Amino acid sequence: MVAVSFNNVWKDYGDSVAVRDLNMNIKDGEFVSLLGPSGCGKSTSLRMLAGLEHITSGEIVFGDKVVNQLPPKDRDIAMVFENYALYPHKTIFDNIANPLKRAKISPSEITRRVNEAAKLLEIDHLLERRPQELSGGQKQRTAIGRAIVRQPQVYLFDEPIAHLDAKLRARMRSELKHMQFNLGVTTIYVTHDQLEALTMADRIAVMNDGVLQQFGTPQEIYENPVNSWVATFVGEPQMSLMEMSMTGEKGDAALDFFGNIISLDAASSSRLTKAGIADLLVGVRPDKASVSLQETPGAIKAEVYSRQLLGADVLVEVAIGKTRVRAKADTSFMGNVGEPCYLNFSSENLYYFNAEDGKVVER
Ligand SMILES: Nc1ncnc2c1ncn2[C@@H]1O[C@H](COP(=O)(O)OP(=O)(O)OP(=O)(O)O)[C@@H](O)[C@H]1O
Ligand SMILES: [Mg+2]
Repeated sequence: MVAVSFNNVWKDYGDSVAVRDLNMNIKDGEFVSLLGPSGCGKSTSLRMLAGLEHITSGEIVFGDKVVNQLPPKDRDIAMVFENYALYPHKTIFDNIANPLKRAKISPSEITRRVNEAAKLLEIDHLLERRPQELSGGQKQRTAIGRAIVRQPQVYLFDEPIAHLDAKLRARMRSELKHMQFNLGVTTIYVTHDQLEALTMADRIAVMNDGVLQQFGTPQEIYENPVNSWVATFVGEPQMSLMEMSMTGEKGDAALDFFGNIISLDAASSSRLTKAGIADLLVGVRPDKASVSLQETPGAIKAEVYSRQLLGADVLVEVAIGKTRVRAKADTSFMGNVGEPCYLNFSSENLYYFNAEDGKVVER
């Protein structure tokens, strides 16, 4: 178990830069999720930690040791990557047992650990089969098994449960988290699924286009996103953004949203007045917006754009001109597409970003 750092790490592929000046200190025993959309540089970052990818510049540090030149086998890591690379001619048992055999662990201990991991991963009935006789999700779990039978310094996971069905994925999230907590092995876990990151990680590193956007606890990222990009990437259903402008003088400042005047609570008013930004992107999460077919005080006139049943409630998307805003409503909401409706939210629950660069307005 060890702390892991990226210090000013760059990865330049010549025609594209995959990772730009990455700085991140991961604590000993911490579970960190690298979260971002496809192509943002998550796997490249992980592969650099593993030693599978040469770094263009910067340092990767394990504990107090720079490991830039250390080959993968000497880094004491266990990894599960997108292509699980199982040994095709070995049984599932032997695939999982392989790292233990190499470490010269006793046969009885190997059997115990393999069976324990296989049970946890629900593949204990498949141990005599070979990889080509398994489904994609079963192969993926075999690869996880092979990683978790060892207790290395660092676990590196790259979308390890992406191929599992929703129910098994939910169970694996909880099992992997539980296991990591008990073992205390420093873990870096790549995913493009914000729910996976929010539910499992101690801290999340949100990346976009090779650049680390924000590094913080799930709560910090959800409640205080540093820019409008992070705000809309994290949280499902997605936050809506509305273009608004400041209006009124200090003391009675308000927001103008296409002619609708939105009054401000004291904290929002002083924050926005102090910042003095004329054009804003204002965010609202669906569970903080409400929609009704009856006009209510302060509501914004809109039109029902779509209505999706989520189970316990419905997600209603409304249109105000070209802007769409999502709101959660009770299943009793009966508005049809195209029907007039009224949108309401309270300024205490809004997120404020500078329309020019998307950066959050300082508190
Ligand atoms: N060997 C390579 N040569 C050139 N460019 C590469 C190479 N590997 C990756 N890239 C580029 O680097 C960028 C980051 O790739 P990376 O695999 O790290 O993305 P990712 O965040 O893991 O995406 P995904 O979620 O799709 O797996 C991409 O634009 C990709 O095309
Ligand atoms: Mg990847």
